[in-house]
Amino acid sequence: MTLDQEPTPPQTQLRLNDAVDMRYLLREYYDLYRKIASGGSTKIRSHQRAVREAIGRVIKANPPVVLRTPDRLPVTDHLRRSIDLGRKDQMVSMVRALDAVRDDLSWEYGYEKIPKGLAQKYGYAEIAGPKGPIRTTEVILGVVLFAPGCTYPAHAHNGITESYVCLSGAVSENHQGVYTPGSMIFNPPEQLHRITVSDIDPALLAYAWIAPPEILTSNTMNFRRSK
Ligand SMILES: [Fe+2]
Repeated sequence: MTLDQEPTPPQTQLRLNDAVDMRYLLREYYDLYRKIASGGSTKIRSHQRAVREAIGRVIKANPPVVLRTPDRLPVTDHLRRSIDLGRKDQMVSMVRALDAVRDDLSWEYGYEKIPKGLAQKYGYAEIAGPKGPIRTTEVILGVVLFAPGCTYPAHAHNGITESYVCLSGAVSENHQGVYTPGSMIFNPPEQLHRITVSDIDPALLAYAWIAPPEILTSNTMNFRRSK
């Protein structure tokens, strides 16, 4: 470097407090897990509390926010419709906060082998977790989008407690109920679950995973044969 050259300034790390729209979205997750009904289930109530407390710690830590390269998938053609539907429903505040960051979302499959039909109809985007964009090992938060008529094959998550909250559209899990905006689906670790989606409209779900940090960091997803 010659004396005429300006030294390169140190790269400043974006942090949650400055990533305003991501921070608002994280707060929406917190409020969602505070307000949503537990239906009298002590297990679900304690999961909701665990998610809330994890988010509280993330907000307090003001972690780095590393925006990934935005990436789309065939299913993201249905995102606008999902957001339009969600704006009409009780999940509107969450959906609007999600809409604010939608150009920064990186959609992925998460599976090494993706069944052909599913590749057109499924994708998820993480909001917080070990890979970011909000970097944390406290919890994984994200959204999953299903195109109309999608069947998400049976899968389970080892050591991870999972919940989905329907933001728009309608889904069924294991043929055991129909979940519309504002409903929560709870999957304890190892529970096999298969999701089907209405033929007419896409479905958008928020999800949260709670597990020890080493499991959240090393998680890999695989489909399992239904028994
Ligand atoms: Fe799942």
